[in-house]
Amino acid sequence: MAENQRQAYGLTILKNNHAEVRRLRKQTGLPSIHGNKFWKSTYLLMDYLHEYPPKAGARVLEIGCGWGLGGIFCAKAFNSQVTALDADEKVFPYLQLHAELNGVSVETWKCRYERVRKIDLKAFDVVIAADVCFWDSMVNPLYNLVRRAHQAGDIRVVMSDPGRSTFRQMAGRCEESMDAEYNSWYAPEPNSATGVVLELRV
Ligand SMILES: C[S@@+](CC[C@H](N)C(=O)[O-])C[C@H]1O[C@@H](n2cnc3c(N)ncnc32)[C@H](O)[C@@H]1O
Repeated sequence: MAENQRQAYGLTILKNNHAEVRRLRKQTGLPSIHGNKFWKSTYLLMDYLHEYPPKAGARVLEIGCGWGLGGIFCAKAFNSQVTALDADEKVFPYLQLHAELNGVSVETWKCRYERVRKIDLKAFDVVIAADVCFWDSMVNPLYNLVRRAHQAGDIRVVMSDPGRSTFRQMAGRCEESMDAEYNSWYAPEPNSATGVVLELRV
């Protein structure tokens, strides 16, 4: 296998010390809200979606996309039409590098998830996210986003997390008030990741 990269769920994912990633860091600077690397709970998202796939060609919105591997996986595995949203535009060059490397195309959208309206959500069939609820201040905005998706109707939401208390708090509130459930999940590829996955069903 080529150096400083890994293969998982049919994707090539570069490590932080890969020459192309180092080049981007020099050229565009470092993302500032933890979008500076690929986070492993995306493996949980990929594994879960492999088990419970979206329909082929679904319109997928990935929020807090960082390097965007969740959406890239959907584009590659399920021919999804993917839009990747992040508050920090510095993540997008890393996302485009990975999209190109994996032979798919993904639209990008610089926006905070707090600002995504019901009318915006209606343009999607599925909202996905990995590791986006890591501060106390994120619990309310993310709960509200899931609630807006629920109110918009017919939108599936799938979010994975390593199991942080902030995520559990947000997911627990979704369980209490909507047809949502969060459960432990395990991803064997590439070297075992554990955490939880929240699903809002349509
Ligand atoms: C821990 S990283 C996870 C990135 C990616 N999902 C992954 O698993 O590799 C969190 C991401 O959420 C983004 N983010 C943080 N707050 C946000 C907000 N309010 N709206 C949109 N994106 C946000 C950050 O810029 C960062 O890319």
